[in-house]
Amino acid sequence: MGRALAGAFLAANHPTTVWNRTPGRSAALESAGARVASSPADAVAASSLTVACVLDPPSVGAVLDALDDDLSGATIVNLTTSVPDDARVLAARVASSGGRYLDGKIMVTTSMIGTDDGFIIYSGDSTVFDDHADTLRALGGDADFLGADAGLASLYDLAMLDIFFNGMTAFLHAAALVGVDGVTARTFLPYADRVVDVLRATMVELADAVDLSLHPGDEDNLEMETKALDHIVELSATSQIDTTLPAAVRELGRTAVAAGHGGDGFSRVIDILRRRTGVEETG
Ligand SMILES: NC(=O)c1ccc[n+]([C@@H]2O[C@H](COP(=O)([O-])OP(=O)(O)OC[C@H]3O[C@@H](n4cnc5c(N)ncnc54)[C@H](OP(=O)(O)O)[C@@H]3O)[C@@H](O)[C@H]2O)c1
Repeated sequence: MGRALAGAFLAANHPTTVWNRTPGRSAALESAGARVASSPADAVAASSLTVACVLDPPSVGAVLDALDDDLSGATIVNLTTSVPDDARVLAARVASSGGRYLDGKIMVTTSMIGTDDGFIIYSGDSTVFDDHADTLRALGGDADFLGADAGLASLYDLAMLDIFFNGMTAFLHAAALVGVDGVTARTFLPYADRVVDVLRATMVELADAVDLSLHPGDEDNLEMETKALDHIVELSATSQIDTTLPAAVRELGRTAVAAGHGGDGFSRVIDILRRRTGVEETG
């Protein structure tokens, strides 16, 4: 990813200095016009803006260690994936070392960097986002600033990935189910698409239900929906397909029904999800 980011800056004619822990991996970037720094300190000193993208938060910490925590006057945009608290810790560390910190999370793959399909979300020091908007635009596509809390970009990133991984697993589970009777995933795909269309509209209703703490069961209710989930679990079991996913969803529904919410809509499950993390039930 570091290579893609530096390549996009070079393609946009920004003078670019690169550093990588293992020497020799920047040869292609050097050929494309990058200067290769001899150390993290050399790289940070070379530009008014430093973009960091390494494996994980401890790797960012290791790079900061190499700088002896001297970041006076430096501006760091850290695009390394993390949990929110890691970003907040890094933001505090950079600030206490005299630098400015903007956190960013890359929502696309390397090939989309620098193209119209790029998408990066940012949070932290808004002056960094504003002062370097033109430079960061070189990374392509949409760039959203979410707020002053450096942890927000990670929070949105992981919440979006939550939907992505669960959605992928749901499709794979359905593909496994239809596959038992010889239906290919491709054959089933248009029908999966219909569900995704419904899901998009349903998410609007769920969002309102969650924000307003209102869970009317006039169009759907948990009593009926847990029965549908019973059928999915039963079919999975008799088809020798793993039941973990539908059984977990059914368990959430059953818990809400057992708490007296069988007549409520599916959005009531938010209370079960929150209760498990100690958040109080909504109205
Ligand atoms: N690849 C993607 O499509 C993608 C998409 C979104 C977000 N991201 C995020 O981007 C970040 C980088 O991902 P990647 O795909 O570039 O991973 P990668 O190909 O595994 O590269 C990891 C990089 O981190 C460096 N590194 C590891 N440990 C280090 C340490 N202790 N000190 C200094 N440098 C260290 C490695 O240096 P060496 O060359 O010396 O090993 C290498 O340059 C991750 O946080 C990832 O989640 C990636």
